[in-house]
Amino acid sequence: MDPPLHDVYRRMLIPEFSVRRIREMRPAIQEIVDRLLDDMLEQGTSADLVETFGLAVPSLVICRLLGVPYADRDFFQSRTRRMVGAAPEAPQDSMNAAMEIWHYLDGLITEAEREPGDNLVGRLVTARRESGELSHDALVGMTFLLLVAGHETTANMIPLGVLSLLRDPGQLAGLRADPGGWPLAVEELLRFHSIVDWIAFDRVATEDMKIGGQAVRAGEGLFVLGASANRDPRAFERPDELDLRRGARNHVAFGYGVHQCLGQNLARAELEIAYRTLFERIPGMRVVGEVEELPFKYGGPIFGLHALPVAW
Ligand code: HEM
Repeated sequence: MDPPLHDVYRRMLIPEFSVRRIREMRPAIQEIVDRLLDDMLEQGTSADLVETFGLAVPSLVICRLLGVPYADRDFFQSRTRRMVGAAPEAPQDSMNAAMEIWHYLDGLITEAEREPGDNLVGRLVTARRESGELSHDALVGMTFLLLVAGHETTANMIPLGVLSLLRDPGQLAGLRADPGGWPLAVEELLRFHSIVDWIAFDRVATEDMKIGGQAVRAGEGLFVLGASANRDPRAFERPDELDLRRGARNHVAFGYGVHQCLGQNLARAELEIAYRTLFERIPGMRVVGEVEELPFKYGGPIFGLHALPVAW
């Protein structure tokens, strides 16, 4: 979607992702992370971190954000897991789960139209009534976009970051000694992994232009390789090295320009709380098996791991 309509929608959502609003959400995120780790520890001494933690954290955070009632969380979580985690050979399963979520959100919004709660959906419904700018279907579409954009990204970033940290005990020890270093570490993990690559940045030129000396004609497609920018030696020294104290905030892991990630403050808070709490509570965690044999998601739109077996 392009401006000016894009601006109208985006402006409605900006206050929901402000630094202040996300700061207010931190205790709720901490509670979600703590509960999931309680469950994991109760279950035994090993787990698949993708299933039990990576997928669960963003799913429950989004439930909270959208005001999904507690009783519906299992339904919501299982469908989001199927939508995001379906095997590549069974795309229909993912489509079916997406349809079920769409219907669910449709119902959630109808409910909020009757009685708007004090959450993102409630506030949007109220704003829509006041301004008349947003149709019911547009609202369903918007919440669905938030769910997809905020779920798969964070769900992949959590296990990948954990893996990187487990493979680098020296830097992990540094973070344990100085937990104030976590925000910088999160930025570097985002840069280093650049999980959202060309699929998010694909564009069609609306007019003739020149980019980096290259002529692009109106109507031509562009694939901007975000990961390549994030490993550009002109922008970052030793770009292929994970340096958790690098402090480089000029990465493009959240995109650039008018579509830059709306949920980046939330993503940063989720990642920081998830990594810090996990390593505080399970200091002896280790990867089970050979890293080279882990099932990485090559070829998918967003990089990540299908599974990360860990033990402690
Ligand atoms: C590690 C986590 C995340 C990463 C790496 C990430 C990355 C990105 C990127 C690269 C874009 C730009 C796409 C483009 O230019 O076309 C984007 C857009 C977006 N992201 Fe995120 N994202 C993350 C988490 C989240 C979260 C938690 C939410 C909200 C719940 C969210 C909501 C959005 C939305 C709504 C857009 C579209 C913005 C627009 O078009 O104006 N993202 N994200």
